[in-house]
Amino acid sequence: MKIAIVGTGYVGLVTGTCLAESGNDVVCIDKVAAKVEMLQNGGVPIYEPGLAELVRRNARDGRLKFTTDLGQGIAEAELVFIAVGTPQGDDGGANLNGIWAVGREIAENLHSPKTIVIKSTVPVGTNAELARRMAEVTDVPFDVASNPEFLKEGAAIEDFNKPDRVVVGARRPEVVEQLGDLYRPFLRTERPFLAMTPESAEMTKYVANCLLATKISFINEMANLCELYHADINDVRRGIGHDQRIGFSFLFPGVGYGGSCFPKDIRAVIHMAKSVGITSRMMEAVDDVNQAQKDVLTRKILGHFEGNAQGKTVAIWGLAFKPRTDDIREAPALVLIDALLAAGASVRVHDPEAIPNVKEIYGDRLIYCDRPYGAIEQADALAIVTEWNEFRNPDFEVMLRLLRQPVIFDGRNLYDPAQMAELGFIYQGIGRVVPEPTATLGA
Ligand SMILES: NC(=O)c1ccc[n+]([C@@H]2O[C@H](COP(=O)([O-])OP(=O)(O)OC[C@H]3O[C@@H](n4cnc5c(N)ncnc54)[C@H](O)[C@@H]3O)[C@@H](O)[C@H]2O)c1
Repeated sequence: MKIAIVGTGYVGLVTGTCLAESGNDVVCIDKVAAKVEMLQNGGVPIYEPGLAELVRRNARDGRLKFTTDLGQGIAEAELVFIAVGTPQGDDGGANLNGIWAVGREIAENLHSPKTIVIKSTVPVGTNAELARRMAEVTDVPFDVASNPEFLKEGAAIEDFNKPDRVVVGARRPEVVEQLGDLYRPFLRTERPFLAMTPESAEMTKYVANCLLATKISFINEMANLCELYHADINDVRRGIGHDQRIGFSFLFPGVGYGGSCFPKDIRAVIHMAKSVGITSRMMEAVDDVNQAQKDVLTRKILGHFEGNAQGKTVAIWGLAFKPRTDDIREAPALVLIDALLAAGASVRVHDPEAIPNVKEIYGDRLIYCDRPYGAIEQADALAIVTEWNEFRNPDFEVMLRLLRQPVIFDGRNLYDPAQMAELGFIYQGIGRVVPEPTATLGA
């Protein structure tokens, strides 16, 4: 099929590349000329495992092209995906300016019938409203369909190629069939293709994210309670997870969720509820709990320094909002950095991929370290914020030598508190029982 994708970010670029890889002719369109130029020259503006190689191969083979010219980009396409951002607006709701602008531009450049597919996460009613707005601009027939994306950054290619399900919201069976044909190669393992109305498809995406965010805030609240009652959330987690009604997934306590989706999507649902005169009490609580949880490491660290971190050096391992991405949108690490800088601490940071993005915000206010061990040199404490694999099994003896004080605040519960105490660390996880260090320091 001939496909155009408008918006070449985390979702658009992965979608375009995977669709090209399955044999379609794809043009990826973006308004940011520097991004398009970089892609045209074989570069990839974001980090996503496996993506660069796939982009290069499909571009080389002529199935994947990049342009800033929307009119030219969509000219031959049968399907035009919209994958632009839908960030949080000033009122908490999704800001749809990008969707409306792209819809208008598509309508102005529509010379043959096409199916416009909204892949961005959008409030219920957006498909219908886009169709209405486009029909004011063009007489050429078109369809608007919803096809929410469920991929996870860090595993986006795998998720796109082997989705748990594909959800499509369309009003005409022909459109369902067209999208069914497109996704058939990705659903060979009997994964379901679920057709519904655009409204139900739009809602499905939000409900999925609301439930996932709820699980995170739930387990974080329980972890905080565990800590105060000397129960260990890790034991509790295992104690509940074997119940098949509960399971293990997405029930890891931590430093709160961040990223470009959960925070804004939860607030978009709160706003959607308000717009029809009701209060989404659960989502408001999920958001509140999460905001408070983003401060959990700050509270612990400042508590350790008895409220005075002036002149202390704190190392941070992990800046991206989760491992295997360079995305720092709403990342909990940024909240910690701000608090530490405000408290007068000096901050040494390491992340395998996100440092360039963090540098853009903080410039020379932080000390950037290429290696994890470099970051902890002469630090008075280490905070672990993102669970990159390389932090899971470090050389603790080396760490004891490098840290000025053997203090670790582990926002991802990577280590065993008893072992850490035995080694001589002052160690605090999230919702773990805090043991006294048993080794004699310096012995
Ligand atoms: N990132 C994820 O993991 C993920 C997962 C599922 C769904 N989503 C949803 O997908 C959508 C896109 O998310 P993203 O993370 O890929 O965003 P992104 O910010 O990485 O990418 C959006 C791209 O759209 C481009 N753009 C904006 N306006 C444009 C215009 N008028 N014309 C052409 N290009 C334009 C931007 O330059 C940018 O490159 C959002 O609605 C998001 O909620 C994201």
